[in-house]
Amino acid sequence: MDGWPDGPEITLPAGDVTEGVVRVGDTVRRPHQDTSAGVAAYLNHLESVGFAGAPRYLGRDERGRDVLTFIDGEVTGDPVEPWAATDSVLPSVGWLVRALHDASVGWTPHIELRPSTPGRPQPRLPDGEQLLVSQRDVTPQNVVFRGGAAIALIDFDLVGWTTRSVDLANTAMHWVPLCDPLDRDAGLADIDVVARLRLLLDGYGDAAVTSTQLLDAAVLRFGAAYDSMRWNAEHLGGGWARMWAAGAGDVIQRRVAWFAEVQPDLVRALR
Ligand SMILES: Nc1ncnc2c1ncn2[C@@H]1O[C@H](COP(=O)(O)OP(=O)(O)OP(=O)(O)O)[C@@H](O)[C@H]1O
Ligand SMILES: [Mg+2]
Repeated sequence: MDGWPDGPEITLPAGDVTEGVVRVGDTVRRPHQDTSAGVAAYLNHLESVGFAGAPRYLGRDERGRDVLTFIDGEVTGDPVEPWAATDSVLPSVGWLVRALHDASVGWTPHIELRPSTPGRPQPRLPDGEQLLVSQRDVTPQNVVFRGGAAIALIDFDLVGWTTRSVDLANTAMHWVPLCDPLDRDAGLADIDVVARLRLLLDGYGDAAVTSTQLLDAAVLRFGAAYDSMRWNAEHLGGGWARMWAAGAGDVIQRRVAWFAEVQPDLVRALR
């Protein structure tokens, strides 16, 4: 396909899994993957309902790569930069995830979002909560900020079915963060977990997800992570295997143990 902006390829900061993400003019080129059709379908849906907080899927370039719009703004690197570790960014992250969920609820994709893979552990989701499609990977490195507020999500490779509470718990895991203090980035060593959870939850709107729902969803999400990550490491290799070899499984187990210890206090403090 022709007609894409031409110009130098600027390497973008690498994440854990996808290699070769570059910027060309006002577009981003990402390697085409078996989830690309699902990503395209979801981004097209978000565009059709006027959701502004995601890139547009533009097609594929002459090398077969996915072409997306580049979203201008600030994205933190890894480890999390001081500005992205402040409490003041959290309400806008919660608000952005809420807006994404509101734009997604009720949408049923016309294709399988992810290729069906026998044996792959499925996410554990709470009984009785409405399913919705979401980006499911709201890490600090996947949120674009402008003027100190979160304005867009990028990196939709993990698009799939979830619920409001599980996706918000996953967001909290990355943004509070919810992990054993041993595993926090240095800039987040002295955080007040309750205060940061409260800011995220208030940004989302706690009428839509209560603190009890959020904490219960965190137990489900954290409990499923070990098997899921190990399966990805064994079957997908690449960055998943590298993360596993670097101790991702231990981090997950420490998180589960830490959360079991602090959960009763969090329940009381957030009620
Ligand atoms: N559409 C976009 N607009 C602005 N910046 C982008 C966009 N896409 C990617 N970036 C920048 O490039 C970085 C890497 O892109 P992306 O998150 O898509 O891939 P990745 O993290 O390498 O993938 P994975 O998480 O699958 O390993 C982002 O953290 C962000 O800084
Ligand atoms: Mg990323």
